[in-house]
Amino acid sequence: MQNITIAIDGFSSTGKSTVAKQLAKHLGYIYVDTGAMYRAVTLYTMQNGWIDKDQFDVDALVSNLDKIVISFTFNPELGFAEVYLNGVNIEREIRTLEVSSFVSKVAAIPEVRYQLVKQQQKMGKDKGVVMDGRDIGTVVFPYAELKLFMTASADKRAIRRFDELIGRGDDVKYEDVLRNVKERDYIDSHREDSPLVQAEDAIAIDNSDLTLEQQFDTVLNLVNKTLEDL
Ligand code: DC
Repeated sequence: MQNITIAIDGFSSTGKSTVAKQLAKHLGYIYVDTGAMYRAVTLYTMQNGWIDKDQFDVDALVSNLDKIVISFTFNPELGFAEVYLNGVNIEREIRTLEVSSFVSKVAAIPEVRYQLVKQQQKMGKDKGVVMDGRDIGTVVFPYAELKLFMTASADKRAIRRFDELIGRGDDVKYEDVLRNVKERDYIDSHREDSPLVQAEDAIAIDNSDLTLEQQFDTVLNLVNKTLEDL
């Protein structure tokens, strides 16, 4: 069967990566979490003291972009690829609320986007890929055979993210998580370079009231239909 490119975009914490991982496993495709790449650049920026609550030294980040090497290595125990920054596994570190609070600012820098989009296009050049993010169907793979746009209410998304952070032992408040979800929605959809918008040919899925099984069935039906129509 022919391989296709599946682009999954949407607001933060809409469950994009959950459904993308399920699909990639089911289809034997590569899964690329592009949010993890923007988070990796953010972590590097934080580690170097170029960003905090009071300042963001964009020039320092941009002039050191060539020192940031992001890679993915499949972890068979987890069943998906973990992200590495300059050879160090940062899968856990990039999911903190602190990284989430800076990532949208870093992701709005055009030079950062240019570098990461180039890498993403390389990773998906042979198709057989499920990629999730904010600009996959609009910028990275505008010719993807299947484009999905995931949505859910901000409250539902914040509850999911809060449960996830508490579940792994992080000390966070629900109000802070909700504020972060709303702030990122705003910055991600209002930035000048590649703002988050639904591609014209993307299919929107509101999963506020869907179970994971219902969501997966819905998406798998769309994949099968796309493959039949090729
Ligand atoms: O998917 P995520 O929540 O891990 O993404 C983190 C941030 O990275 C998100 O708030 C915006 C940015 N991002 C982006 O600008 N473009 C992408 N393709 C993926 C993520």
